[in-house]
Amino acid sequence: MPAPVRKVVFPAAGLGTRFLPATKAMPKEMLCVVDKPIIQYGVEEAVGAGIHSVIVVTGRDKSAMEDHFDISYELETVLASRNKTALLSLARSVAEIADVAYIRQKEALGLGHAVLRAADLVGPEPFAVILPDDVIYSQTPCIRQLIDVYEQYEAPCIAVMEVPNDKISAYGCVAVEQVSDTVYRIKDMVEKPKASEAPSNLAIIGRYVLTPDIFPALRHTAPGAGSEIQLTDGIRHLLKSRQIYAVKFEGTRYDAGDKLGFLKATVEFGLRHETLGADFRVYLRELAL
Ligand code: G1P
Repeated sequence: MPAPVRKVVFPAAGLGTRFLPATKAMPKEMLCVVDKPIIQYGVEEAVGAGIHSVIVVTGRDKSAMEDHFDISYELETVLASRNKTALLSLARSVAEIADVAYIRQKEALGLGHAVLRAADLVGPEPFAVILPDDVIYSQTPCIRQLIDVYEQYEAPCIAVMEVPNDKISAYGCVAVEQVSDTVYRIKDMVEKPKASEAPSNLAIIGRYVLTPDIFPALRHTAPGAGSEIQLTDGIRHLLKSRQIYAVKFEGTRYDAGDKLGFLKATVEFGLRHETLGADFRVYLRELAL
C-alpha cells in the first residue's frame, strides 16, 4: 500500500475574470451554488474521501474564504441568544469541517506555480489537488475515485472526461492507452491544444492525486500556454520517469467558474436540494410551460 493521501491543495488565487462583475470584490470561490460557496463543495468532497487537512493557495482580497471556514463569534452569539440551535450548529459545522491552512500566491503565474506554493505545507507525501471551479456531483466523491486508483497502481492520477472536439482547447488533454474500463495509462499530455492537434477527446478535469516529486518537476517547468507555469507541463516532465494514470470518473462535472456552467450547477443542485428541491421542480415545470 502506498503512503496515504492526507492533504488536499485548493488553488484559489485566480482573479475570476470569467465571472465579472460578480467577482470584482468577491472571490469566485465564494460564488454560491444554492446555499454553499463553491469551495465548500470541494472541501466536503475531500472530507468525504477521508482527507481532513486542507491547504488553500489564496491571493489578495480573498479573506472571505478564510472567514468562511472560521468561527463567526458575532453570528454565533446572536444565534445562541435567539435559541436558533439548528442554524448555530450549521454555522459552526463549516468552521469545524476541516483543518485549513492558507498560503498566498502573490502573482498570477499559473496553476503549476500555485501548486508549487503549497510545497512546504504538503511536505514529502502524496497529496490531492482540487480545482474549486470544477464542482462534481457523484455517488463516490471524485477525489476518492482517484485515490482508489492511486492505491491500486501506486502512481499519480488525474481525472479526465470526454469532451467534444470543439471544446478541447479549453482544457489539458491526454494521449492514453486504456488499461481498464475507466483507467488509462497516460502516454503524453498537452495544455490547451488546438482542436486539430489534440491527441484525444479526453480532457483533464480539476482533480489530481500527485506525489511530492511533482515539486522539483514544477521548479523546472518553464511558462507554457498563456505564458503561465502549467501543472500539465509539470506532470508531463514526470512522465519521463514514472507511470501516471487518467481516470474517467463517475459523476457530473460543472464548470462553476463559467457563467453558463454556474447556472447549470445552480439549477441541478437546486433540484437535488433536500428541502428546496420539490418546490423548485414545481416552479421549473410551471416556467417551462
Ligand atoms: C485548468 C488546467 C487544465 C484543466 C482545467 C479543468 O485550466 O490547467 O488542464 O483541463 O483546469 O478545469 P483552467 O481552467 O484553469 O484554465
